[in-house]
Amino acid sequence: MSENLYSTVERQRQFIAGGTMSLNRAIDPARLFVRARGAYLYDADGKQYIDYHAGFAPYLFGHGDPEIDDAVIEMIRSGASLIGAGTMPWEAEIAELLVDSVPGIEQLQLTSTGSEAVGYALRLARAHTGRDVVVVMEGGYNGCLDYVSYNLMDPASFVEPHEPGEEYPLRVTTAGVPKVIDEVTRAIEYNDLEAAERVLAKGDVAAIILEPILQNIGIVKPLPGYLEGLRALCDKYGTVLIFDEVKTGFRHALGGYQSISGVTPDLCTFGKAVANGYPMGVVGGKKEIMSLCSHPDPAKRVAVAGTYNGHPVNVAAAKASLSRLRTREKEVYGELERLGARLEAGLKQVFASRNYATTVVRQGSAFTVYFMDHAPISWRDIALNHDMERDLAWRKALIEEGIFQFPVVTKQGSISLAHTDKDIDQTIELSEKVLSTLA
Ligand SMILES: Cc1ncc(COP(=O)(O)O)c(C=O)c1O
Repeated sequence: MSENLYSTVERQRQFIAGGTMSLNRAIDPARLFVRARGAYLYDADGKQYIDYHAGFAPYLFGHGDPEIDDAVIEMIRSGASLIGAGTMPWEAEIAELLVDSVPGIEQLQLTSTGSEAVGYALRLARAHTGRDVVVVMEGGYNGCLDYVSYNLMDPASFVEPHEPGEEYPLRVTTAGVPKVIDEVTRAIEYNDLEAAERVLAKGDVAAIILEPILQNIGIVKPLPGYLEGLRALCDKYGTVLIFDEVKTGFRHALGGYQSISGVTPDLCTFGKAVANGYPMGVVGGKKEIMSLCSHPDPAKRVAVAGTYNGHPVNVAAAKASLSRLRTREKEVYGELERLGARLEAGLKQVFASRNYATTVVRQGSAFTVYFMDHAPISWRDIALNHDMERDLAWRKALIEEGIFQFPVVTKQGSISLAHTDKDIDQTIELSEKVLSTLA
């Protein structure tokens, strides 16, 4: 470890509780990244890495995109500030762009993070239905709030005894969640419609929340008919369907994954790519539900409040990002698809000559290599079949060679518009190199 890194890590341990800001950022092998531009990260020793982590996925245009940064600087120089009184012109502009882009958004509120957007979506769903229970997906992640801190990438020993078609026992993922929240939470497996029907049929479920592609665990796609089936069940049992598009939104399509699947949720949440790395979240959906924010009866009104909601810096980034996606939609998603397909084809070729099973799964610019013989359909499938050790070894070896995929099993790789064919080809070559040295 370089002197630089050693002293910083020591200082971090002393003053930062848990050692990293946001505890999911801890990495092994340790690196001290100090700069990021375009498709690259740079560490304190000056080494360059091709970045596929993309800060947990927001960077669709790459780090420090000049067009987006210029829009931010222009907004600051224009005298815009967090006035926090009444409404500001840029708020209507971004709201209109979002409503025009996403099929499931008729009205919306802006937040600073995806977690807050999820928190409000659940509050709106509970207020709308008068019910308390929320259903989450085994293996899913919907932010840091208590209500969704359950059943996150549980070990094989936990998931193995589970029978498809049934609810999971709850497994809380952090200390400090009041036990009372267990009573209003249920967990089921993604792609398990039978389990969804059983839990919804009880009639007390306010909302079912899921990523339409379960991207917390790579790229786990919905089986044909799954999202349509959930839509029908939610309609049948009066439950609010929430698509958490914090990761899928804008990465796969301007209209979110809902525009690809053709299934429109009642509420949806966005974050990450909406502002290409600037901190903004969105909660939006049907006017009938969103308008609870202005219900004349205070007892029925849903409160949404945040000092930094609609901050001009973040709105400027989101406006620039969305405007670009809208004017160059075909070009942007065409290029991301082309780069993704190039990487997928190369990785498939590299892995084809190995004596162990691998499956490359991709949606546009997001990809994951599973060390198993089929594309997974759920976390249970992954926990029981994916070779976790091999996955981790591959990721770690690539970091040593200057390719940064997050060194945690199944975490998705994210390609940006800043990546070039050369970056992709280098990634394929180095994958070949490191795999031939791994057992
Ligand atoms: C699907 C999903 N929902 C919600 C969140 C929470 O967003 P944030 O970290 O901005 O609070 C994340 C973050 O990784 C996410 O992936």
